[in-house]
Amino acid sequence: MPKRDFLAVTDLSKAEILELFRVARELKSDEKAAKPLAGKTLAMIFAKSSTRTRISFESGMYQLGGHALFLSSRDLQLGRGEPIKDTARVMSRYVDGIMIRTFAHSDVEELAEHATVPVINGLTDLLHPCQVLADMFTIEEALGGLEDRVVAWVGDGNNMANSWLNAAATVKFELRLACPKGYEPNREILETAMGKTRIQITEDPEEAVRGAHVVNTDVWASMGQEDESEVRAEAFEGYVIDRKLMRLADEDAIFLHCLPAHRGEEVEAEVFEGPQSRVFDQAENRLHVQKALLVKLLG
Ligand code: CP
Ligand code: NVA
Repeated sequence: MPKRDFLAVTDLSKAEILELFRVARELKSDEKAAKPLAGKTLAMIFAKSSTRTRISFESGMYQLGGHALFLSSRDLQLGRGEPIKDTARVMSRYVDGIMIRTFAHSDVEELAEHATVPVINGLTDLLHPCQVLADMFTIEEALGGLEDRVVAWVGDGNNMANSWLNAAATVKFELRLACPKGYEPNREILETAMGKTRIQITEDPEEAVRGAHVVNTDVWASMGQEDESEVRAEAFEGYVIDRKLMRLADEDAIFLHCLPAHRGEEVEAEVFEGPQSRVFDQAENRLHVQKALLVKLLG
């Protein structure tokens, strides 16, 4: 069987995503029982910081009976200019899978092209598919299903927004995005998703959130954009998820944030800590869903 990579949500079919969630539910209810990855190693390359991704993949591999290697790209020869295609072929001789978090999405594609083991995207400037899998699982858990749900995205058209577009296109739910002018999602991803499901894009957060079942945001300046923080803070004024905005959503709506969050910037502290917030379930679900993914790809 050819190896499977997971670089984007669209690498899985809707049926595969729902099956993954079934396995994730099973693993979540019986956390440390099965060891399907005994003797297997996952290499984890990080060119950016991480709390959740690193710890959930590392603990997940351990719980499945396997082992994970944390590799900062600064310490690998990759950081001194060894080509990605050579790194991919060398690593494939040692490990059973590679997870990578880096800047350029094309680097991850190149790694996947030359690796003979599965490659998992742990975040690029373009996409964050593992997070959005966990987010969809969290919605299913909290609201009992994704179909007929309206998901609102308020803020930057960033890697998370792009992955939500891919998710909506694959699973077929309605997605409404409110982004300031100049901060829209990737055009190609947006247009492809628009051809597959109901996507609305506006500059007005109220329009996006009205009646939505999920209200979702992320930081205004992503990793690598620290220099733009001030300009972005001005552009995103008015894109804060506060109690007033939440009141426009469905009365049972949940609030999601991939974390880390900046209280008082993209989200009001009262919403973040409030009864509608599922942010810590969402963070926990990274572990369960990624374990299911690891079993599927490396098992
Ligand atoms: N949400 C997320 O990916 O968190 P980390 O950056 O801490 O991995
Ligand atoms: N958009 C954020 C997500 C962090 C998990 C970033 O790329 O920094």
